[in-house]
Amino acid sequence: MSQFALSRTLPPDATAAALREDVARGLTNSPKRLPPKWFYDARGSELFDEITLLPEYYPTRAEREILLSRAPDIARATGARTLVELGSGSSDKTRHLIRALPGLDHYLPVDVSESALRGAAATLRAEHPTLSVHALVADFQHDHALPDTPGPRLLAFLGGTIGNLLPAERAAFLSGLRAQLAPGDALLLGTDLVKDERVLLAAYDDARGVTAAFNKNVLAVINRELAADFDPDDFDHVALWDPYQEWIEMRLRARETLVAKIQALDLAIHFEAGEELRTEVSAKFRPEGVRAELAAAGLEMTHWWTDAGDRFALSLSVPVSLPV
Ligand code: SAH
Ligand code: AVI
Repeated sequence: MSQFALSRTLPPDATAAALREDVARGLTNSPKRLPPKWFYDARGSELFDEITLLPEYYPTRAEREILLSRAPDIARATGARTLVELGSGSSDKTRHLIRALPGLDHYLPVDVSESALRGAAATLRAEHPTLSVHALVADFQHDHALPDTPGPRLLAFLGGTIGNLLPAERAAFLSGLRAQLAPGDALLLGTDLVKDERVLLAAYDDARGVTAAFNKNVLAVINRELAADFDPDDFDHVALWDPYQEWIEMRLRARETLVAKIQALDLAIHFEAGEELRTEVSAKFRPEGVRAELAAAGLEMTHWWTDAGDRFALSLSVPVSLPV
């Protein structure tokens, strides 16, 4: 029977402290903003999984197409014995990779969502009885310590989640990843690509309103965790394309002037009618940009694969020394 462990790199109250700090800082900032990791309580993780099934939301299908066709190439290029996956969610697409890696004996999914980790581990253990699964409830931007497992190690960051980090955060994050890689290890990175604005906007503002519910879920998280009184119906879901930054922004726009009370922070937050709170950026990439960001962190891109429609890319890179 496969082994399963779940551990936290931080005590549970550290998550609460981080939420308090992000909400206090982000909602008193002008313009107001929040980091996207707070979408993902159990309900938020479910809503994200629903998004991946929407006809408008192409990234998951495009990345799955690449993984299905390229998993044998990834296996040959890496020979991985350990697979570490950051922001693993349901690990649904990862199963294609796990199946293709013949020498793999350790899988370490890392996510802030404990419910997603437990659900993924249950499915994977049933499918791969000899695989050791060690799930880590951790923040991939801050908690870099990983259990000691045999190499070569493949670090996977799929789904285009790197696009949810701001450029400076991405640079720090990639350098942090690079520091964890030994010779022979590799990074598998999923990046969504720049494309027609209409396709992008539809993906982030679907007809059924699932993305709107996902966006508003952050208010439910704040209400529950910080005793706040946001009414999600007071806000409209907004998705817009910024052609200069080449990213989608999701925002929540106040329908009327309102005040929301956040008891746990002893704060009253004022919104003007039409005022927006930015809840997420989702950057879209070009090949030369991905190569350059990797190189700046000491990673050399060795492979670049796209789906047939050139919508999404998977790249493989290896650690190299930075020029002095
Ligand atoms: N990789 C999956 C899921 C993508 S959704 C896929 O490709 O479909 C993004 C995932 O990252 C969610 O499961 C969310 O809980 C997780 N996540 C977001 N911010 C995080 C952070 N700072 N640290 C750890 N996990 C995070
Ligand atoms: C997880 N991440 C890559 C998703 C994205 O597309 O940026 C989150 C998401 N936001 C709205 N829909 C999906």
